[in-house]
Amino acid sequence: MQQAIAILDSGVGGLTVAKEVMRQLPREKIIYFGDTARAPYGPRTPEEVRVFTEQIVDYLIQYDPKMVVIACNTATAAALDYISSKVSVPVIGVIHPGARAAISATKSGHVGVIGTVGTISSGAYTAALKQLSPYVEVRSQACPQLVQLVEHGLYRSSQSLKVVEESLNGIKDSPIDCLILGCTHYPFLMEPIQQVMGPGVKLISSADETAREVSTILYDKEQLASNDESPVHQFFCTGDPIMFQRIATEWLGDHITRTPVVWQITKL
Ligand code: DGL
Repeated sequence: MQQAIAILDSGVGGLTVAKEVMRQLPREKIIYFGDTARAPYGPRTPEEVRVFTEQIVDYLIQYDPKMVVIACNTATAAALDYISSKVSVPVIGVIHPGARAAISATKSGHVGVIGTVGTISSGAYTAALKQLSPYVEVRSQACPQLVQLVEHGLYRSSQSLKVVEESLNGIKDSPIDCLILGCTHYPFLMEPIQQVMGPGVKLISSADETAREVSTILYDKEQLASNDESPVHQFFCTGDPIMFQRIATEWLGDHITRTPVVWQITKL
């Protein structure tokens, strides 16, 4: 049986990372877990997020994945080190890839970060950016309203621009030349975010760089898939399966409409 890459998030946000992995590594099988019943994770304590993340990883490990991607910034900040020390397969998060992408994109050295309350108050992005480049200036802003907009399938609605505008108020006039979308839900709102920030600010999603890291790790371990047929991806969610399936189908498009997919609602 083909070993999968396990990708997890509090909800649908990690699909932004899954899509990039599917695009860059089309032979790889993905097992995706969205804890939609307990999203959002952003307002929760780091301890609670760590417990939830551990429960999801324990669940996914039954499927014998070859690696685990914590495609949630909040869970990466709260639990990456702990989960990595527990699990025998490689585990990666999305914060270092996002920081790397921003450092390579910035010309002025002034970088903005938006994320959940949990991610921003952890200081994990500032630490990751300064570890790479000590003189970088970081301006951070928590945007707690954006995740629910996406989870409720309203990212293309007329109200999204208004909510995005309000959320970015504190950062939109900062002298930054790139803005890290430090929550995997935010790429769903790329258009209104770009509209509010203006063309002079490059938006950075950690999805591309995270997928590249997956690719590098599997290449180094000689574990890249070599199957000729398309993989059958598997999707689990803990909440409303109809909303989850609707958003996943809309977002992933051709990546999942051309091949069979397994959908499952589950309890932890
Ligand atoms: N998508 C997640 C993140 O990257 C979690 C958002 C949430 O559940 O609050 O932080």
